[in-house]
Amino acid sequence: MAYDNYIIKHKDIDIGKITINKNNYNIIDTEIENSVFSPISNSIPKDEQIADINQWFNNRCIPGSRYGIDILKKTYNIHDLRELMVLSLGLSLSDHYWIVREKENKIKWNEINFFDNKYSENMGKVFFDKHFVKNADLNIGYVPDSSLNGLLKKRWHNNGQINILIKNSSEPYKQEPFNEYFSSLVLDKLNINHITYNIIKENEEYNSTCPCIINKDTEMVSFVDMLRKYAQHITREKYDGYTRILDIAQSNSLPAYKEELHNMAVADYILCNNDRHWNNFGILRDSNNGKWISAIPLFDNGGSLWNGENVPKDTHSKCNSFANTNEECIKLLKININKVINKDNLIDLIDIFDTAFNNYSNAERKKILRNGLIQKRKLVYDYMDKCEFTSLIQST
Ligand SMILES: Nc1ncnc2c1ncn2[C@@H]1O[C@H](COP(=O)(O)OP(=O)(O)OP(=O)(O)O)[C@@H](O)[C@H]1O
Ligand SMILES: [Mg+2]
Repeated sequence: MAYDNYIIKHKDIDIGKITINKNNYNIIDTEIENSVFSPISNSIPKDEQIADINQWFNNRCIPGSRYGIDILKKTYNIHDLRELMVLSLGLSLSDHYWIVREKENKIKWNEINFFDNKYSENMGKVFFDKHFVKNADLNIGYVPDSSLNGLLKKRWHNNGQINILIKNSSEPYKQEPFNEYFSSLVLDKLNINHITYNIIKENEEYNSTCPCIINKDTEMVSFVDMLRKYAQHITREKYDGYTRILDIAQSNSLPAYKEELHNMAVADYILCNNDRHWNNFGILRDSNNGKWISAIPLFDNGGSLWNGENVPKDTHSKCNSFANTNEECIKLLKININKVINKDNLIDLIDIFDTAFNNYSNAERKKILRNGLIQKRKLVYDYMDKCEFTSLIQST
């Protein structure tokens, strides 16, 4: 079997060794150091370590189900998207991991990371601009886009000052850029920490934009990554993940993580976000000492406003974090919603919707969403009143 040995690096520290099958890009063996930066636990049996490191590796590349992926595969004659990631050394704008062939393990992170060094934007342009493929230099070079997950078509762009993530939308409603902008404005109003999103129009399509929120000293760690490293043996019961990680947050000097998760659950409830899966939240980590800094400001709110689904009569929305619906999640986590948000800050909700969806062209869907939101706000008000009343009774 043809294989290659690589070193997993975190900045300039060697985290471990992986052996990659050259034919199918599966990791067939691994030796991982016991480090705060190790992406897996090394106190589990070897076969589980191999399974976990494969999961980590696969999760940091473009998924095969990404919208519009065929054009990329065809243009670059790529069969396995892990190949693209390996070509760009697994370097990312979301964390500080990378991989290098064992025999080339002399390169320094400063020489190649995308925070200090320029990168090619060709691959992103192939994705977004059908004319680009016909007449441009298609050389990929090193690209952060190769180590970027998520289903929506997306690309990194450096505007000379900052790195910006540009994200497209999905059929049938193409709501996501509008949802991101809407959520960003609502979360401003609710004083919930979040990444700021805007909308741009390019080649007749709307996209959302947001700035890269990490730098050379901080990095994102998704909830999936946290669970893999710290809680391998939890069941896949959603709520178990919550309790387990909160215990660990205590010992990582981040007791406030509980409040931050509660803010997220309330945000998802108000925004009717059906896509808060475990890659869509996590922590910011100090990438020099491994300490947990805070929750990642809320990002990927493109699943808001019942994205991709019919708006149900009761306006409930599916929950992907810790319960089955966002309403249930608030109750399960015993969140005192009146402590998280102020009712007065919901008054402008519909005006915000009108602003954010101003250019949204699907009039029928827009009307349904607007009506759903009016109904939702009423239910939220009722629920907040009920909670206030209950807590008044309890305190007397
Ligand atoms: N502002 C940011 N700065 C740095 N990294 C980011 C930022 N926003 C997103 N990322 C990284 O990019 C990944 C994909 O982004 P995002 O979740 O927004 O995409 P998506 O296609 O909407 O995802 P999904 O498949 O969950 O719908 C995130 O999981 C995260 O690792
Ligand atoms: Mg996502």
